[in-house]
Amino acid sequence: MLKVEDLWVRVADNDNGKKEILKGVNLRIRDGETHVLLGPNGSGKSCLVMTIMGIPIYKVERGKILFDDKDITTLSIDERARLGIGLAFQNPPEIRGVKLGDLIQLSGGNVEECLQEASLDEAFKNRDVNLGFSGGERKRSELAQLFSMRPRLMLLDEIDSGVDIESLELLGKEINSFIENRSCLIITHQGYILKYVKADIAHILLNGRIARSGSPDEIFNEIRERGFGGTKND
Ligand SMILES: Nc1ncnc2c1ncn2[C@@H]1O[C@H](COP(=O)(O)OP(=O)(O)OP(=O)(O)O)[C@@H](O)[C@H]1O
Ligand SMILES: [Mg+2]
Repeated sequence: MLKVEDLWVRVADNDNGKKEILKGVNLRIRDGETHVLLGPNGSGKSCLVMTIMGIPIYKVERGKILFDDKDITTLSIDERARLGIGLAFQNPPEIRGVKLGDLIQLSGGNVEECLQEASLDEAFKNRDVNLGFSGGERKRSELAQLFSMRPRLMLLDEIDSGVDIESLELLGKEINSFIENRSCLIITHQGYILKYVKADIAHILLNGRIARSGSPDEIFNEIRERGFGGTKND
C-alpha cells in the first residue's frame, strides 16, 4: 500500500534556511499491516509522517512516496487525504471558532458516531476544536477527526502520550476495531498502545534513517537493554 523509497527531507528552518532531517528512509507497509516507528526525540519520526501526509514545510529532496503504486510525492494534503491517508498529529492545534462537530461533519463523518468511537462525550461537538481540551481529550479529538475521514492508512503520531490508563484501554480498543482491513503506522515511545493494538513490524529511526526493523517484542527488548545507540544496522 505505502512505499517510501530513499526519502531525503529538509525542513524550512526559521534561522538557518534548511535543515536536513531524513537521510534515505525506506519503508514498506502492506495492506492490513500495522507498523510501529520508534526512535529518540528529534530523530525525525514526526517529520516522516508529516512528509507522507504532504505538510508543505517538509521538502522532499530525493526519493519518492508511493501509495497503491501511484507516485504521491508532489500531491497536496487534500489529494492524499482523498486517496485515504490520514494523520493524527502529535501536537494538534487549537482552532478557535471552529466547532469539533462541524469539522467532523465537513470531513464526511457522522458526528455522534465519531465522538463515540473516540470515547468523547457528545458535548464536545459544540466546543471549539481542542480549545481548553485536556491532553488526553486532545488525543481523542484527533482520533475522532481521523475516524471521520475513514482513512485506509492511519498515521498515529504519539496517540498514547499523556493518556491515562483507562482512556488508553478505551482508545486502544477503538483503534484496534477501526484498523481491521486498514493499515497503520504508530509512533510511540513507551509502547503502551501496543497492549491493545497488535503490531506486525517495528522500526527504529536513528539519525534520519531506519537503523533496524524487526518484530516489535524483539526491538523493544533491544532498546531496553542497549538503548537506541546499541541497535545495529542490518
Ligand atoms: N519547522 C521546523 N523548523 C526547524 N526544525 C524543525 C522543524 N520541524 C522539525 N524540526 C527538527 O527536525 C528534527 C526532527 O524532528 P521530529 O519532530 O521529526 O522528531 P521526532 O522524532 O518526532 O521527535 P519526538 O520524539 O520528540 O517527537 C528535530 O531536530 C526538530 O527540531
Ligand atoms: Mg515527534
